[in-house]
Amino acid sequence: MTLPKITLTRRWPEAVEDQLRRTYNLDSNESDQPMNPEQLGAALARSDAVCPTVSDRIDAELLNGADIQARIIASYGVGFDHIDLAAAKKRGIVVTNTPEVLTDCTADLAMTLLLGIARRAGEGERHVRAKAWVGWHPTHMMGAKITGKTLGLVGLGRIGLAVARRAHFGFGMRVIYFDPAPPPADVVQAVGAEARDSLKSLLREADFVSLHCPSNEATHHLMNAERFELMRDSAFLINTSRGDVVDCDALVDALGNKQIAGAGLDVYEGEPTVPEALTDLENVMLLPHLGSATLETRIAMGMRVAENLEAFFAGGEPRDRVG
Ligand code: DGY
Repeated sequence: MTLPKITLTRRWPEAVEDQLRRTYNLDSNESDQPMNPEQLGAALARSDAVCPTVSDRIDAELLNGADIQARIIASYGVGFDHIDLAAAKKRGIVVTNTPEVLTDCTADLAMTLLLGIARRAGEGERHVRAKAWVGWHPTHMMGAKITGKTLGLVGLGRIGLAVARRAHFGFGMRVIYFDPAPPPADVVQAVGAEARDSLKSLLREADFVSLHCPSNEATHHLMNAERFELMRDSAFLINTSRGDVVDCDALVDALGNKQIAGAGLDVYEGEPTVPEALTDLENVMLLPHLGSATLETRIAMGMRVAENLEAFFAGGEPRDRVG
């Protein structure tokens, strides 16, 4: 019996690659270099399944290519804005993602950024390493207190709820949220969050604004110059969702003009390039898309892909089908 051919576009944790190698004819990317469009096209042409990451763009041009053998794109990640679902559907290709398994770690990272930017942790670390620290004194690197402050969540899906739980029960914050499609009332109540009926009222009220919405046409540059103007000058923006939800030029202006107090970012439009206008600023904490980056979670994400592939090749419906 010939085993289905599976292509991974990057190296995955060893435990997952080992498991996949036992079941499939596995093509793992030994060099771990990102694949270019030609290489991705070739992978789609020679494999029964292609398993991209959230940084591989699988667009219509690629999916309209003549030679496609792949019948499933089993993506390693929860976001699927990098895949053109309509084009995949036209070619009869099933698309899956890996929800749930990265919720806690991504929420932890949102809290890391929230705490880090409010308490100037990045700045403080740079200060110590630069040997600029001359000793404790009462006015040294004063940050913003967290307890009792208001956290505004834009989007109350799985990750938004996990952040709400941490912020409210762990850090004594008041949590408000705006979500046009909120979860059921009992779920919201369980995390101690209060609804706001518009983004505008949330932005006016929050001391911290944390973004937890997907990237799509409606959320593209959701945080723009007009919306930064609504925020308090003592407020902070946290983004662990997708870079293009924030208009970066408008953010740089808002930070530079002290229209907002700071930002903690894990994602960037056009990443891995991060504009110098951001890296030059002190009042930002910048991480390299680490939301799901723990060994446990990265293994769990791979195992979830394996589960989706198993269901698909057994002729069933993969549990995480998104297209
Ligand atoms: C995702 O899964 O969408 C994250 O951005 C990376 O884990």
